[in-house]
Amino acid sequence: MKQTIIVTGGLGYIGSHTVVELLNEDYDVVVIDNLSNSSESVIDRIRAITKKGIHFCNIDIRNYDALEEIIGYYQESATAVIHFAACKSVGESMSKPDKYYDNNVNGTLNLLRAMKKYNIGNLIFSSSCTVYGQADELPITEKTPIKPAESVYGRTKQICEQMIKDFHAEYNFSSILLRYFNPIGAHISAEIGELPNGIPDNLIPYITQTAIGKREQLTVFGTDYDTKDGTCVRDYIHVVDLAKAHVCALKASNKKDYTAEPINLGTGNGYTVKEVLNAFEEYNDVILNVKFGERRCGDVTSAFANADYAYSELNWKCELGLKEMVISAWKWEQNNNK
Ligand code: NAD
Ligand code: WQD
Repeated sequence: MKQTIIVTGGLGYIGSHTVVELLNEDYDVVVIDNLSNSSESVIDRIRAITKKGIHFCNIDIRNYDALEEIIGYYQESATAVIHFAACKSVGESMSKPDKYYDNNVNGTLNLLRAMKKYNIGNLIFSSSCTVYGQADELPITEKTPIKPAESVYGRTKQICEQMIKDFHAEYNFSSILLRYFNPIGAHISAEIGELPNGIPDNLIPYITQTAIGKREQLTVFGTDYDTKDGTCVRDYIHVVDLAKAHVCALKASNKKDYTAEPINLGTGNGYTVKEVLNAFEEYNDVILNVKFGERRCGDVTSAFANADYAYSELNWKCELGLKEMVISAWKWEQNNNK
């Protein structure tokens, strides 16, 4: 029998790319999404890429009864849940802690309760490199100590990681905590990609929106960091590579039981903001209107992963580089503005 995978937040940026990879690998997919940061049209776009359909449930994971009903309905065939549904803006989380604790923490608690009730055997959780803060040593391994997170968003991820670990005392399941570094780019078809709400916080959507003329100018936040060109270093990872890692995590989790196992998902390479800008301009033949400004509050100087554990444990590594990331991001922005 085909395995059914329940994907919360499966119409969002990373979720939709993961659903494509799951369908490509012939899993049946049930998406639970309340469309708070996505649209139902993504279902057609997924179908255009894969020629396959999904089961879609428009529910909010904070609604326990509705969530329990869906998970109960699929209990026979569902072997795993991939849990993306969350709010993700670091800035917004500082001014709206209630929204973030409610959606990210209560939502995850509901999911764990419903999974426990129906004994669903595997959970793959979307965590973030933000749980490490400014690491004392680079690259960041899974053994790098977790520091109190700088933002409410980061704290919700730390709490969820701990909650998942604690649930192992109550029922037998396997759980993996995927700590993403900086996912960027879009599917090669340009059918799906990142759709930020309002003014983007993140670098790549700000770049593409500046290039297309939606934003007048991009500000580089800080040029006096202790890095090779004074701008911050991050480990940018192509969203399609990231999506494939979820399929590898599912396969690994079918073979072995994990207890809230953290796994870093990054390329292992750090790029500065200036390097990303230069790559975007060069590979897309576009000139950006850029200003060099002050540091942004809360930014760490450098963060990049040691990706060895993902390779040894999941048999996964990145295949796409910065060139593919910036080209696909620009193609998506253009396609989305036709
Ligand atoms: P996204 O906002 O594009 O996708 C999240 C999806 O979840 C959306 O479709 C939204 O409608 C849905 N959703 C939110 N709350 C819900 C609820 N209560 N009930 C049902 N559906 C709900 O975000 P994304 O970038 O795809 O991120 C996915 C996950 O990865 C999140 O947990 C995020 O914290 C984590 N993450 C993202 C990044 C990043 O840079 N994008 C980095 C690290 C970790
Ligand atoms: C990257 C670099 C900015 C915008 C965030 C979250 C993290 C994770 C990924 C969810 C930084 C610089 C940015 C701009 C700029 N998300 N920048 N001008 O801050 O590394 O990580 O997203 O889990 O938790 O914190 O990503 O894309 O915002 O910034 O110069 O207009 O680009 O200062 O150096 P960040 P980002």
